[in-house]
Amino acid sequence: MSLQFTPLHRHFCAEVTGLDLTCPSAELAAEIDRAMADHAVLVVRGQPLTQDEQMAFTRSFGALDLGFKKVSNAHTRLKYQELADISNVAEDGSIAQRSHRRIVNNVANQIWHSDSSFQNPPARYSMLHAVVIPPKGGATQFADMRAAYDALDADTQAEIEDLLVEHFVLHSRFMLGDTEYSEDKVAAMPRVLWPLVRTHDDSGRRHLFIGAHASRIDGMSLPEGRLLLSDLLEHATQPQFVYEHTWEPGDLVIWDNRCTLHRGRRYDFSQRRELRRSTTLDRTYPTPERAAA
Ligand code: OGA
Ligand code: MN
Repeated sequence: MSLQFTPLHRHFCAEVTGLDLTCPSAELAAEIDRAMADHAVLVVRGQPLTQDEQMAFTRSFGALDLGFKKVSNAHTRLKYQELADISNVAEDGSIAQRSHRRIVNNVANQIWHSDSSFQNPPARYSMLHAVVIPPKGGATQFADMRAAYDALDADTQAEIEDLLVEHFVLHSRFMLGDTEYSEDKVAAMPRVLWPLVRTHDDSGRRHLFIGAHASRIDGMSLPEGRLLLSDLLEHATQPQFVYEHTWEPGDLVIWDNRCTLHRGRRYDFSQRRELRRSTTLDRTYPTPERAAA
């Protein structure tokens, strides 16, 4: 198979042509892996996939992640637990009411994040496939955390070099005022400590690792840590680091959760929007030591 890559942004992202997603193979996965190391986001257009086909393609990249489903026990109308129903559609197939949990999930996806950054192993690739797209809005944006890190001044790079950040699955939900979780449930939710600056396995480049689950900086007061996280996020999501994908049904976008952030954009929740996400697991990392309290 000979793949062609057309860059979509000056730092990252490419459109790939010359492949058939319904014929996964170890060779194709290896070729995509090589391209992902460089581009971090790949766009494939015009390939409507069944749920079975999306699962088979994703599985050629390794074990799959359950993401938020691990903690939400959500019932799914899709055929596989490992397919996330990224839609505003209720269990019976109708457009969900404004008060439905699914709408909260949609809103939470509109904050910059890295999928499953709250667990170890975290997510490696997410693959989002468009089925029904509303007439207006509902694009998805991606931000390049390697280019954003490179663009920091040397003093800031030195200042943040050894910091550790706690990622907590409900942090973004709490920020949105979605707080109806029992104490037991909150205590059982995963949290993990990650270096704020990490090295990307496949390119050896340094990058920021932040986003909606980043809840505190280890060893710093809550306000000081949160302000630093918010300053870094503001820096890293400036337009020069962002690619916006306008969806067509049949698109598949693959992104590397290690070195990019993404967010959905607003759309009219009374208009149907249906995408399906499958996600592969990254490796398990050694657990860093917390700073002394
Ligand atoms: C996701 C996600 C954003 C969107 O599927 O992980 O964050 O635009 N989606 O739906
Ligand atoms: Mn996401």
